[in-house]
Amino acid sequence: MAGSIFYKTADDLALMRHSCELVGKTHGIVASFIQPGVSTKRLDEIAEEFIRDNKAIPSFKGYKGDYPASLCISVNEQIVHGIPNDYQLREGDIVSIDCGVDANGFHGDSAYTYCLGEPTEQQRKLLSVTKQSLYKGLEQAVVGKRIGDIGFAIQQHVEAHGFSVVRELIGHGVGRNLHEAPEVPNYGKRGQGVKLLEGLVLAIEPMINMGKRDIICLDDKWTIITSDRKPSAHFEHTVVVRKNKSEILTTFKFIEEAIKKNQELTYID
Ligand code: MF3
Ligand code: CO
Repeated sequence: MAGSIFYKTADDLALMRHSCELVGKTHGIVASFIQPGVSTKRLDEIAEEFIRDNKAIPSFKGYKGDYPASLCISVNEQIVHGIPNDYQLREGDIVSIDCGVDANGFHGDSAYTYCLGEPTEQQRKLLSVTKQSLYKGLEQAVVGKRIGDIGFAIQQHVEAHGFSVVRELIGHGVGRNLHEAPEVPNYGKRGQGVKLLEGLVLAIEPMINMGKRDIICLDDKWTIITSDRKPSAHFEHTVVVRKNKSEILTTFKFIEEAIKKNQELTYID
């Protein structure tokens, strides 16, 4: 992720808007198929087919030469990068789905965490605080602020509610590459780091644990889980730095419509 920062032109942003819209739609389709008994692999097939039908490429497939799927699907104590497989979702699971799409040479990247059935009070709180922390972070993505302001806002909100911020995995610049400079940690100090300028596009993606922040990487070399095996949540938007208010390029609109129609899922604000 090191290297120079690529600021996007108006033309670049028009293309990115399209990729990001497709990410949102893909999530919406996938969300309509989430139910007890569906395998995570089936959800991945649905996403890949929809992405390719829209003349786009799943950004994650083949990433670093070997990520084998189009989505990352991470259940309960899995934080991120869960590889879709034969596991069948069940009532009581919390399921993070991460999707990246390259529609026209530019990537969009977004993640959402779902709750199957009735959540426990702690699950509800984890999902709600993690989603809120994403919005706290992106409120800071305006011209003149610094990268550290984003992480500070996320960390403050999360820790005030008794949860913990994963340190080893972070958000990132996004554009012609899925991962570009700068790094966007979900923790930090106010006023520190790279200054934010108009046209910088960031993927902001808090990964928040109910228990301790420590992680373990499984033997598959991808799946990251909590070391205490307590649940974790992940929400992500691709956003553009603007003068007074950041512009969110991805959308949860299709997801939230699908959740409200899907009896098996509980919408959490
Ligand atoms: N949204 C995640 C990220 O930006 C997904 C990457 S998954 C991978 O890091 F498969 F592409 F590695
Ligand atoms: Co990302």
